[in-house]
Amino acid sequence: MIEKREDHKEPCCCFAPMEGITGYVYRSAHHALFPHVDRYFTPFLQPNQNHRFASRERNDVLPEHNKGITLIPQILTNRAEDFIWMAGELEALGYDEVNLNLGCPSGTVVTKYKGAGFLAKKEALDAFLDEVCAGIHIRLSVKTRLGMASPDEFEELLEIYNKYPLKELIIHPRVRSDFYKSTPDRAAFQKALKASRNEVWYNGDIFTPGDWEEFHAGFPEVDCIMLGRGLIANPGLAGEIKGFGFPDKGRIKEFHDMIYQGYRETISGNRNVLFKMKELWFYLLFLFPGSEKYGKKIRKAERAAEYEAAVASLFRDLDIQEGRGYGEER
Ligand SMILES: Cc1cc2nc3c(=O)[nH]c(=O)nc-3n(C[C@H](O)[C@H](O)[C@H](O)COP(=O)(O)O)c2cc1C
Repeated sequence: MIEKREDHKEPCCCFAPMEGITGYVYRSAHHALFPHVDRYFTPFLQPNQNHRFASRERNDVLPEHNKGITLIPQILTNRAEDFIWMAGELEALGYDEVNLNLGCPSGTVVTKYKGAGFLAKKEALDAFLDEVCAGIHIRLSVKTRLGMASPDEFEELLEIYNKYPLKELIIHPRVRSDFYKSTPDRAAFQKALKASRNEVWYNGDIFTPGDWEEFHAGFPEVDCIMLGRGLIANPGLAGEIKGFGFPDKGRIKEFHDMIYQGYRETISGNRNVLFKMKELWFYLLFLFPGSEKYGKKIRKAERAAEYEAAVASLFRDLDIQEGRGYGEER
C-alpha cells in the first residue's frame, strides 16, 4: 500500500461488531489485507441458559480462527449469571476483555429488555453490572446508546456506568428509536465525555477520512473510534484515516475473493453463501460510482456461476473512487 503521511494524528481504530457480516471469515480476510484496524469486536454472542456455546459462536471466537487479531467478544444478555458463565469460557480461551451490548435496537431483542432495551430497566442494569463486575476475572467494556427514546436518559445511565471500572465506554450517540436514522447527537456525546469516569470511545457515522477529521477537530481528546458501516463499505477506511492512502481495486477484489472462498468452505448450500455475499455487496457497492446496474445483477444471481459473472463484470468495467463512503449515491 501507499506510504503513510506523517502529518496525521493516528486514532486507535476499532471494527464495530456487525451481526451477519463481521464473523471470523470476514475478519481474517480483512486483517490479512487491510492491517490498520487495532481491535475487532465480534458480532454479539447470546449465552443461553444451558450454558453451552452454539457452534457458530464457538467457531467465531476460537483462537485458531482469529490468529494475529486483537479481538473483543461481545455479549448480549440481561442475565448476569449467563454473562458470567460466558465470560469465564472466553477467559479460558485466552480473552482478557468482554463487551456488553447495550445498543441493539432490533424489536425482538428490545422487547426482551436486552441490548438497547436493557437501558429502560436502570435498576436491573445497575444490579447486573454489580454482579458481573464481581463475578468475572477479565475486563468489562460497554457499548451503549444514549437511551431508549430520549438523550436525556443518559444522565442517569452515566451515573450507573460511573460506578464501575469499565475498560472503556463506547458511546453510539443515538437513541433506540432512531435505529440508524438521523444524525448522531454530538452535543449529548460532548456532555457524556465530560462526565464519564471511564475512558470514552466514539462510534457513529464516520464514513470517510473527512468525517474523521471533522470529528477529531471537535473532539481532539478522543483517541479511539469505532467504525462500522463505513469500514464495510470501504475496507481500507482505517488505513486511510491513519494516512496510508486509498486502497486499489485489485486489493478490493482480492478481499472479495478471499471472503467468497472462505464462505464456500464454511457455509453449506450455495444459496446461503450467496446470501452472505449479497449482504456484503450492499455496502461495497458504495465504493463504485455507477454500480447500481451491476448491483442488481449481483442481487438477482441465484447460482454461483451467475454471481461470479456479475462480480467479474463489475470489477472489469468499474473503478473505485477515493473519497466515497457509505450512504453515497451508487
Ligand atoms: C447489519 C448491522 C449489524 C450490527 N450488529 C451489531 C452487533 O452485533 N453488536 C453491536 O453492538 N452493534 C451492532 N451493530 C451496530 C454497529 O456496531 C454500529 O454501532 C452502528 O453501525 C453505528 O456505527 P457506524 O455509523 O460506524 O456504522 C450493527 C449494525 C448493523 C447495520
